[in-house]
Amino acid sequence: MNKIIVAPSILSADFNHLLEDIKKVEEAGAEWLHFDVMDGHFVPNISFGQPVLKSISHSHKMVNDVHIMISDPFKYAPEFIKAGANFLTFHYEACKSDKEVFQVIDLIHDYGCKAGLSVKPNTPIEKVYPFLYSLDLVLVMSVEPGFGGQKFIPESFSKIFKLREYINTNKIKCLIEVDGGINEETAKTCKLAGVDVLVAGSYLFGHDDIKERIEKLR
Ligand code: DX5
Ligand code: ZN
Repeated sequence: MNKIIVAPSILSADFNHLLEDIKKVEEAGAEWLHFDVMDGHFVPNISFGQPVLKSISHSHKMVNDVHIMISDPFKYAPEFIKAGANFLTFHYEACKSDKEVFQVIDLIHDYGCKAGLSVKPNTPIEKVYPFLYSLDLVLVMSVEPGFGGQKFIPESFSKIFKLREYINTNKIKCLIEVDGGINEETAKTCKLAGVDVLVAGSYLFGHDDIKERIEKLR
């Protein structure tokens, strides 16, 4: 099993002390920083956009793992890459066709960024199979996108397991990331199912034992 990557989601950070919270998770050993961008249209919540990413993307050494829960990813992808995204993950459900999914992946790669595709809990994992040879990452949402602090949806384990089997059988190089309701318990089963990257927001931010919590996730 590869080394697990921990990606704290700043959605749960204290925005009044954002840089301090980012430094805390970096010093505690997190390899990636997860940015949950929400537009209030694709998901029923608004979080933050390019200006926030631009202002913090170079203030740490972690990988900028940007998750855009927005409509029309083709239009906005370049903006997030220019603002500092190293991985840019968009939603399968935000595209009108498989052709459009491929167009967004190609656009992200043209800008020198790694491309990820995310699926909501109700989207069958098989929907991402046609794109796997072009993708750097698949993000399995284990909660309905829109809010931090929700309960992990148990069916997500089998989605991760099926995807891991398909990737291994077909010798595909693509990371598997899971996002939503990740804590010490759910992380254990996600790792057994074959996940590479764990996103965690409310389990990490707002606690004074972040280092221990990150270690428990691994
Ligand atoms: C949902 C968000 C959350 C966030 C993680 O749209 O993507 O899943 O990253 O939140 P927690 O770890 O608090 O569930
Ligand atoms: Zn996310």
